[in-house]
Amino acid sequence: MNLNSEEFIPFARPDLGAAEEEAALRVIRGGWLTTGKENQAFEEEFIAALGNTSRSLEVQANEGGSSDLWALGVNSATAGLHLALAAGGIGPGDFVVMSPYTFVSTAEVVLYRGAKPLFCDVEPGTFHLDVDRVKKLLRHPWLGRKIKAVIPVHISGCSWRIRELAQVCREKGVLCIEDAAHTFPSEAEGKAHGTWGDVGVFSFYANKTITTGEGGMVVTPRQDLAEQIRPMRLHGIDREVWNRYQKNATGAEYDIVTLGYKYNLPDLGAAIGRVQLSRAWELRDARRAIAKIYGEGLGDRDWLQLPFLGDGSNPSDWENENFTNNSHSWHLFILRLVPEKLSISRNEFVAELKERAIGTSLHFLPLHRMSYYRRMKIGGEGPFPEVEGLSDRAISLPLFPSMTEAQVRRVIAEVLKIGDTFSQRHG
Ligand SMILES: Cc1ncc(COP(=O)(O)O)c(C=O)c1O
Repeated sequence: MNLNSEEFIPFARPDLGAAEEEAALRVIRGGWLTTGKENQAFEEEFIAALGNTSRSLEVQANEGGSSDLWALGVNSATAGLHLALAAGGIGPGDFVVMSPYTFVSTAEVVLYRGAKPLFCDVEPGTFHLDVDRVKKLLRHPWLGRKIKAVIPVHISGCSWRIRELAQVCREKGVLCIEDAAHTFPSEAEGKAHGTWGDVGVFSFYANKTITTGEGGMVVTPRQDLAEQIRPMRLHGIDREVWNRYQKNATGAEYDIVTLGYKYNLPDLGAAIGRVQLSRAWELRDARRAIAKIYGEGLGDRDWLQLPFLGDGSNPSDWENENFTNNSHSWHLFILRLVPEKLSISRNEFVAELKERAIGTSLHFLPLHRMSYYRRMKIGGEGPFPEVEGLSDRAISLPLFPSMTEAQVRRVIAEVLKIGDTFSQRHG
């Protein structure tokens, strides 16, 4: 069947309007394109917004630490993760625990540092690091001593057992770096994702929940880490560049105080990011409404499993109009096929959807199967049965704020047609 005459529904589409255009024009006309006042304002507004995602700031205060946070704009989450490891002193001989069910950024930054990713399976039924297995690794007689950081990845927009994981890391003196590339705005137990560990790193890549085209934000409650990351993101220079070029600048001299990188977020992106940030809840609500229709429309088939939500609920439970689940930012809607009930593989399913002019994506193709990682024997040999089972049957459906209800319903109808056809043929 070739339905390619149908309008193509992309997997993702950024939602940028007149306000973002105006912000970009303001920067272009203002004559200062690189990192400057827009980035600084974006950082301040982002901190405020992280408080905003929480139902109660008291939860934050009750965690024992101060509620002070530092935010540092960077030109990608990959850069932010690299800086977090560098500031945390992770280096040769150190191991960093993560699941191989992630994007390559999470692991490659560990390799940049000359350290070693140590892959750990996900907890059955979830997309997330198995905290019991992490604890076991940390207790291991010689390996445990070499583990210097853990990177939980909040896949799709939610987390799992993050309080417990952050606590274990604190007890063991191991750095907890939240890969929060998917989780803005969302929270666990009333506390924003990205604020549980030592560092949280957000992505503003073009398909993310808010975007600057390319960009990211590093957030930390630790002043010592913030003070190291600040110069590192711009060549190790001891002051913000834009300060040196202002009318009242106090001299042109500067020092290089550390090894730095070219990881700063330009004002052009930051200005767009500020508008996106002000719309973050509107954009999240639009995503949530789409996820709700998906959940209700796809809920009653035994050949599929709805996304993992991180808080024990299920999209098909969302009957209440006023449902306000803040635990998910809905970056991704990951459908899990049940292979025993189907005579079609995941890749064939994706091809069928493509035939019907529906875009999809795969989250994730696990890192331990990638040729470079196998050739270089990176991460450990496994086995990682949960990750393998999961990634062989996961499909990310189209999900973007401007998606119309008609488009969502067409995706549901086509998914059901394909699945029902191939489940009936099965056996
Ligand atoms: C889990 C995860 N971490 C990190 C990144 C890297 O983000 P960026 O493209 O901003 O570097 C991504 C990008 O998609 C991601 O999915």
